[in-house]
Amino acid sequence: MQAVILVGGKGTRLRPITYHIPKALVPLRNEPFMSYMVKFLRSGGLDGAVLSMGYLPDPIQAYFAKRKDLDDFKIDYAVEDHPLGTAGGIKNAEKYLKGDPLVVVNGDVLSGLDLKEAIRTHQESGAFATITLTSVEDPTAYGLVEVDHEMLVHRFIEKPAYDEITTNLINAGVYVLEPGVLDMIPKGREVSIEREIFPRLQEQGKLRAYVSSAYWRDIGTPRSYLAASHDALSGAVGADENFEYLSVDDSTEVGKNVKILPPVSVAAGCRIGHRATIGGRSSLGYGCRIGEGAVVEGSILLDGAEVEAGAVVRGSIIGPGARVGQRAIVRGLSVLGAECVIGEGNILDQGIRVNPGVVLSPRSLSF
Ligand code: GDD
Ligand code: MG
Repeated sequence: MQAVILVGGKGTRLRPITYHIPKALVPLRNEPFMSYMVKFLRSGGLDGAVLSMGYLPDPIQAYFAKRKDLDDFKIDYAVEDHPLGTAGGIKNAEKYLKGDPLVVVNGDVLSGLDLKEAIRTHQESGAFATITLTSVEDPTAYGLVEVDHEMLVHRFIEKPAYDEITTNLINAGVYVLEPGVLDMIPKGREVSIEREIFPRLQEQGKLRAYVSSAYWRDIGTPRSYLAASHDALSGAVGADENFEYLSVDDSTEVGKNVKILPPVSVAAGCRIGHRATIGGRSSLGYGCRIGEGAVVEGSILLDGAEVEAGAVVRGSIIGPGARVGQRAIVRGLSVLGAECVIGEGNILDQGIRVNPGVVLSPRSLSF
């Protein structure tokens, strides 16, 4: 069985990080997100995927080209020259599909769902389309789904208003579709599966649901990306047996009296000065520099980020090559774009900073 992975979105809610890194490749525990996705699809017994791409396709293709362990998992690429939407993106992948039932996944969903079981349920119910559901506290950022006791979908409302909320069950972004669903998608124009195709399938009584209480998160906002990073570091999701929660290799220079409080992931080539503290489920990408006495807690530092002496970074995302100056403080879910600088002694609380001058080739990052 094949999958279509939708990775063509611009990742606007994760800007400025996604100006340079497509959402599909943002790292969790220093592993690009697509690595988790492939593990997830393989866990469902799938043998290949078509990547439905549009925005920043090159780094994603470069990442897969470098992976040499995918002989039994065939990857194809369908690239849009303008955005075709979530259903248009599936239609555009059709030329690589074999005409069998398929799995479709949103390329930003981190899920512990039992995919095999979801596929089996789809097959046993004889459904035309099965969407997987999860529950969230606030469904307004998702597709709200009402089901009856037989798991037939009665209503699908994408991004419901507060007064439309009737359930906390939402579309988890993983579907099992019969090939006939592709015939319902018009070709060559933008089509949303959530706004056009699902409501039509629901009206025809052909849309069924599979509810899961397994781990689930959409990584598409700074808050949820940080939360997913925490969860991957703690082993709540995506852990494999060989993972060491404290991974500091020989190419990392660690100064004296440094406190690294696991689970922490430190990629190769980092330099950590004396008396620095790194903890609270943080990850440091390739070649990061942490100055003397600096503190990094509950944060993600992307490749080449620098936290100078005495600076503090808490619960924030520091973009590739960005720099937090001496004794500066960055906290409260702040996000620094590539090569941004927070000057000496400054404080950034709940802020987003972009360095407009930066044109960084995504290829220069180490995926
Ligand atoms: N190929 C292609 N073309 N892919 C696209 C396009 C496009 O034009 N637009 C978006 N995508 C991809 C994104 O890259 C992402 O992986 C996926 O489709 C979903 O888009 P998001 O922009 O992340 O949607 P969302 O998070 O607001 O909502 C969707 O996901 C929720 C679950 O996470 C919907 O499917 C909701 O119903 C759902 O609850
Ligand atoms: Mg999303």
